Amino acid sequence: MASPHTPLIGPDALHARVDAMGDELSARFGGGPITTVSLLSGAVFFTADLLRRMPEVRVDMRFLRASSYRGTTRGEIKVRDDQLDPAVITDHRVLIIDDILDSGQTLHAVARRIRDMAPAGVEAAVLLHKRGAQRAEFALDLDALHVGFEIDDEFVIGYGLDYDGRYRNLDHIAVYNGESTR
Ligand code: IMP
Ligand code: MG
Repeated sequence: MASPHTPLIGPDALHARVDAMGDELSARFGGGPITTVSLLSGAVFFTADLLRRMPEVRVDMRFLRASSYRGTTRGEIKVRDDQLDPAVITDHRVLIIDDILDSGQTLHAVARRIRDMAPAGVEAAVLLHKRGAQRAEFALDLDALHVGFEIDDEFVIGYGLDYDGRYRNLDHIAVYNGESTR
């Protein structure tokens, strides 16, 4: 059965761009060390492919879950304290890795929590950036933002991105078109 979702970025283009980002980040960080903080679960595929392209950089890989409470007057992002270890943040160069930058709320909250631990620097790598979706109240306090692809403001799935927990394991990015009844 054909997928009802519209392909947006195929596996070849995805891997070519992720490889190029890995090369850019390798040149930037040299031998390291750096600490990567990847957001679960969306950034898992991107993280695995990106970091395998940077074998000469010494990396301490960390993961955290940021839960959002949307629908309240002002959305709030919760990050549990025990998920961020000052021992690998304070005085370290930190690279936050996420699947997509949408409103900016998640990255804003995570970057702020990391800043509170006095790192040597905070950068972020996001695979996708939704053009024009960022909101002014979520200004990002980053030393650099590395973006894989600029996309239109549409809901996308695949390569880590989910709709209601599904589709993370697609090998490409597609625009979500709702559920097929077949
Ligand atoms: P933000 O906090 O609004 O920037 O949203 C970031 C988070 O929302 C990402 O880490 C994703 O988990 C999720 N998200 C935003 N847009 C999409 C999308 O188009 N597809 C799937 N997940 C998305
Ligand atoms: Mg998500």
